[in-house]
Amino acid sequence: MRKKISLIGAGQIGGTLAHLIALKELGDVVLFDVAAGIAKGKALDIAQSSPVNGFNVNLSGTDNYEDTKNSDVIIITAGVPRKPGMTRDDLLGINLKIIKQVAEGIKKTSPNAFVVCITNPLDVIVMALQKYTNFNKNKVIGMAGILDSSRFIYFLSQELNVSVKKIQSLVLGGHGDSMVAMLNHTLIDGKKISKLVEEGLISKERLDDLVNRTKKGGAEIVKYLEKGSAFYAPAASGVEMAESYLKDLKKQLPCAAYIDGQYGIKDIYAGVPVIIGKNGVEKIIELKLSSEEESNFKKSIKAVKELFDAAKKIDPSL
Ligand code: APR
Repeated sequence: MRKKISLIGAGQIGGTLAHLIALKELGDVVLFDVAAGIAKGKALDIAQSSPVNGFNVNLSGTDNYEDTKNSDVIIITAGVPRKPGMTRDDLLGINLKIIKQVAEGIKKTSPNAFVVCITNPLDVIVMALQKYTNFNKNKVIGMAGILDSSRFIYFLSQELNVSVKKIQSLVLGGHGDSMVAMLNHTLIDGKKISKLVEEGLISKERLDDLVNRTKKGGAEIVKYLEKGSAFYAPAASGVEMAESYLKDLKKQLPCAAYIDGQYGIKDIYAGVPVIIGKNGVEKIIELKLSSEEESNFKKSIKAVKELFDAAKKIDPSL
C-alpha cells in the first residue's frame, strides 16, 4: 500500500513539497490548508502533470483534518512567512497560535505519524508542537539544518569552483542568526577548510563572509522576493527528511531534534546531526567540537531557550 503524506499548509513551501513528493512517488499526498481552494487547486494542478511526468500517486486538497487521518508523514508549513526586514523570531506570536490549531487537528487523527515542522521560528515552533501534541519526541522534528548546510555548501562551491558533491559541511544550533557553521567539519574534496585557508586558497575574511551570508541566507531571499520567503530549498530539505524515514535510509542529517543530555544540553529542540530511519530520530550524533564551535553552539542554544521563554509568556500552557 502506498504511504500517506499530509502537508499542513499549501502555500509556497507546501505546494513545492507536494510536487517533489509526487515526482519522487514517495506516497499519496493530502494538501491541507485553511484556504481550501488553494489546497484543492494545487493538488489538481500537480495531478494533471502526472501523465507528462509519469508518476503514479494520488493528490487531493482539503480543509478537513479527517482527510489527513492515519498519515505516515505530516509536514507542517502552516503559518506566515516573514516580510523584508523581519527576523524569524518576529513571527513567534502569530505562528504559535497557528501551530496550536494544527496540533489540535493532527493529534487525534494521526497519532503515529512522523512529523516534520518547517514553520518559523523553527526550533521554538517545533518544541511547542511536540508539547501541544504530546507525540513521541523521536517522531517530531524540525527542518532547518539541511537547508542552512545546503546554503553554506552552495556558497563554498561557488567561491572555490568545486562541485557541491565534493563538499561536506554542516550547520548546527538554532535556525536564526546564531546558527553555527561547523568549520572543523567542513571538507572540500576531502580536505579541511582550515587547510585551504593555510594554503591561501581562501582567506579567513572571505570564509567569514560566506558564514555570515549563510546566516542571513533566508533574509537575502526575502529581500529579493519582496513577498514571501524561500521555498524551493526548504521544500527539498523537508523531503529529504521524509524520504529517509519512509525508506529507512538511516541518513545522518542536521535537523532540529529534541536534545536530552547530548552535548551537555537538556530539554530543548535545536539543530544537531541525527540519524533518521523507520523509528524517526534513531540517534543524535555527538560530534567532537572545537572550543570555538562549542562556545558558539552553546550561545545559539541560549538564544533558542530565550525565545522559548518568550513563547511561554505568550502561552503559559507551554
Ligand atoms: N492551518 C493550516 N494552514 C494555515 C493556517 C492554519 N491554521 N494558517 C495559515 N495557513 C496556511 C496559509 O493559508 C498559507 O497557504 O499556511 C500557508 C503558508 O504558506 P505561505 O504563506 O506561502 O508561506 P511559506 O512560504 O509556505 O512558508 C510557511 O514556513 O519557512 C517557514 O517562515 C516560513 O513560517 C513560514 C512557513
